[in-house]
Amino acid sequence: MAENIEKFLNRVAEVAEQSTLVKMTLSKPANKHDDLRNIYVKPVLIKGKRLFAFTYHYERRDEVKNYDAAQMLEILREMLPERFLNAVLFTVSEDVTLLVSSKGKATIQTKKVQESRAQNLDHDKQKNRLLNPANPWWYQLGLTTREGKITADMQHKFKQIYKYAEIVESLVKPMKFDDTVHIADMGAGKGYLTFALHELLTQRLNLDVDIKGVEIRSDLVLKINEIIQSDHLKGLEFVESSIEAYHPEKLDVLIALHACNTATAIASGIKAGADLIVCAPCCHKQIRQEMERSGRFDAITRYGIFLERQAVMITDTIRALILEYFGYKTQVMEFIEMEHTPKNVLLVGRKTSKNAKDPKILQQIEDLKAQYGIEKHYLETALGLKL
Ligand SMILES: C[S@@+](CC[C@H](N)C(=O)[O-])C[C@H]1O[C@@H](n2cnc3c(N)ncnc32)[C@H](O)[C@@H]1O
Repeated sequence: MAENIEKFLNRVAEVAEQSTLVKMTLSKPANKHDDLRNIYVKPVLIKGKRLFAFTYHYERRDEVKNYDAAQMLEILREMLPERFLNAVLFTVSEDVTLLVSSKGKATIQTKKVQESRAQNLDHDKQKNRLLNPANPWWYQLGLTTREGKITADMQHKFKQIYKYAEIVESLVKPMKFDDTVHIADMGAGKGYLTFALHELLTQRLNLDVDIKGVEIRSDLVLKINEIIQSDHLKGLEFVESSIEAYHPEKLDVLIALHACNTATAIASGIKAGADLIVCAPCCHKQIRQEMERSGRFDAITRYGIFLERQAVMITDTIRALILEYFGYKTQVMEFIEMEHTPKNVLLVGRKTSKNAKDPKILQQIEDLKAQYGIEKHYLETALGLKL
């Protein structure tokens, strides 16, 4: 009996240590005349310190006090079963219920939860954050401390991730989805942006998602899938595949950021009829080599750095024009501040109902290529365009 209370307290200690406690309630006062009716506990992050906020609900007032894990356990030890006969601990993966009968018999029940749950360490000031660094995956991905504090060397990375989430939110919010949103993040790498996308879409926008992170490196795929499983994240999976070999049956959103073979990814997105395509400049080498080979340098491109930049611009301008040709409204957006990386733009294509295929667009592509001595843009080949 007392054994089960001890078991419950040990479980609380474990989940407090693992940062997987979502909330806890103490109810059913042992003395029905007790002024204290119940207690609600939730984890909070205050000045970078992980604490537990106890809301004491009295008959006519509430009182909130914050404690660290050791103090929390001390209070629970005093309260169970002297003041309360029921306690429920909600963790990211299970519910643990402690019931003490009027005769003092304690039983414990554990129930696995079907859907993933995340910790919410919101203190009042943090309510509207797009991403919550206290979610366990940010620690597991190596961006935060166990307490949910972004580490000094990951501050910049997190800023980038946050900015990305802001942009994606502005793009996805106006879209209408009737069902599960199918997303492929091609060349997903260490998964930072993929987890951000999942967190944003499921926790903030309440969407049902099926996100596939396509990544060629098996070590990354293995590691990330382990994190996904340990956090019980629904609708997120990493797939070991090259972008070239990945052909999704259904695709609503295509993301291809800073990976090779972006052109193939864009071609897959167009072929699958994705409603939204977001990619970053990459793979401008092919165009740069053609520009170099043609020897038709103008006053700008004879300077190496400018040649490089111009090749990036031409590559992405042709990509944008091809997207337009296939009925996408395109937009180029700034990704992060210039000082952090030269690859600071995102090319965004939003599918319209317009059946464009406008020959004037093809002419513009031809003119650009002629001007810079380019024979073919890889995306043309990938889409079988005959220019
Ligand atoms: C620079 S990381 C970018 C990660 C992430 N998209 C981001 O922007 O933070 C590029 C990732 O793409 C993967 N990659 C490169 N070429 C690929 C291909 N053809 N197919 C699948 N993955 C690829 C690499 O292994 C690497 O992990």
